[in-house]
Amino acid sequence: MDPLNIALLGSTGSIGRQTLDIVRTMPHYFKVVALAAGVNTKLLTDQIAEFKPDYYYHDAKVSLPDKPADCSYLPLEEMAALPQADRIVLAVSGMAGLKPLLASLRAGKIVCLANKESIVTAGAIVNHLAEVNNARILPVDSEHSAIWQCLHAESEQVSRIILTASGGPFRQCSATELAAVTPQQALAHPSWSMGPKVTIDSATMLNKGLEVIEAHWLFGMPFENIKVIVHPQSIVHSIVEFLDGSFKAQLSVPDMRFPIQYALSFPGRLPNRELPQLDWEELNNLHFEKVRHDLFPALRLAVNAGIKGKTYPAVLCAADEVAISLFLAGKIGFTDIVGLIEGALANHSPSSEPDEAAIMTAEAWAREETLSLAGKKG
Ligand SMILES: NC(=O)c1ccc[n+]([C@@H]2O[C@H](COP(=O)([O-])OP(=O)(O)OC[C@H]3O[C@@H](n4cnc5c(N)ncnc54)[C@H](OP(=O)(O)O)[C@@H]3O)[C@@H](O)[C@H]2O)c1
Repeated sequence: MDPLNIALLGSTGSIGRQTLDIVRTMPHYFKVVALAAGVNTKLLTDQIAEFKPDYYYHDAKVSLPDKPADCSYLPLEEMAALPQADRIVLAVSGMAGLKPLLASLRAGKIVCLANKESIVTAGAIVNHLAEVNNARILPVDSEHSAIWQCLHAESEQVSRIILTASGGPFRQCSATELAAVTPQQALAHPSWSMGPKVTIDSATMLNKGLEVIEAHWLFGMPFENIKVIVHPQSIVHSIVEFLDGSFKAQLSVPDMRFPIQYALSFPGRLPNRELPQLDWEELNNLHFEKVRHDLFPALRLAVNAGIKGKTYPAVLCAADEVAISLFLAGKIGFTDIVGLIEGALANHSPSSEPDEAAIMTAEAWAREETLSLAGKKG
């Protein structure tokens, strides 16, 4: 059997590097045909030398002096639609993932989707394009991979989806302690090793709000039937409740290589000795608790933006990206992140036609608005 050809967008990031770990251990099953990065051209050059793709892309506006002659530059959206790619892994962070996702779907590709901002901002467009072009989205986000695995063969019998959340590093903090959190503290996630933006989103719990919206679009589940519960060990990746009151959950050690590999190997599963195994005899403390909405208002703020729809989710994601950059640059405090997003959402006049152009316009507006709100605050 020929290996599956993979185009990996976001190869230098956390998900991208873990995807390459899997390819490295399973060269008979997977081959990289294209690699795309943002600005980390040093790592991209090393990856090109190791995996020998036919195509590369980066966003750094410099040439790659050590690139082999037979590896050609390809614009990101063309790479997302690459005819010879059997699977597109979309692991670009933030709203930069939207255009490549739409390009993949228009080309009828199978997309292993890690980037959540794209489906959050344009869920209706994404589902429409997938349907009319016979494209397919395979979730990579661990919670959605878990739900997807639990739903196999009985997706009609579901009453509720229960998303688990680690609660982040500040789950047990007081409001005063939260206000004093530094970027360094917020970047230290207790159970997952991830890129900076999603790590801060986990610390504010806005990430879980994005995941509720993502689950709504991926599984067609009404918002009121999606619940979030805190599970600090991150062993149970999510739970599905069926009509008869039974539950199914998917469990593993918290390691993103599990859901990445499953999206690559679907509909099969492959043995991988590199992945850490659960020791059931040591597993004596699976703990669940309520979300502290008083401390983490970003979760409800995000879900409400999802419920309101139109261009509100685009404003949510763009304001969040700007606010996180300001926080990481030391210009605002941790609890200001949610305040700025709330301000941008409150000031937004949504488009009644949330097509791609309206989403881009709302995104640009929200970036300006968030900076302006931060300026007034400072
Ligand atoms: N990490 C996780 O465990 C995890 C889990 C679930 C879902 N996700 C989602 O997966 C996505 C990626 O997360 P991550 O943690 O891997 O992020 P990350 O470590 O920050 O990596 C982001 C990747 O995107 C690239 N990139 C950024 N802007 C780009 C642009 N304009 N054009 C092309 N490439 C660009 C970066 O390139 P450079 O580094 O070269 O600039 C990097 O390769 C996010 O949407 C996140 O929410 C992540």
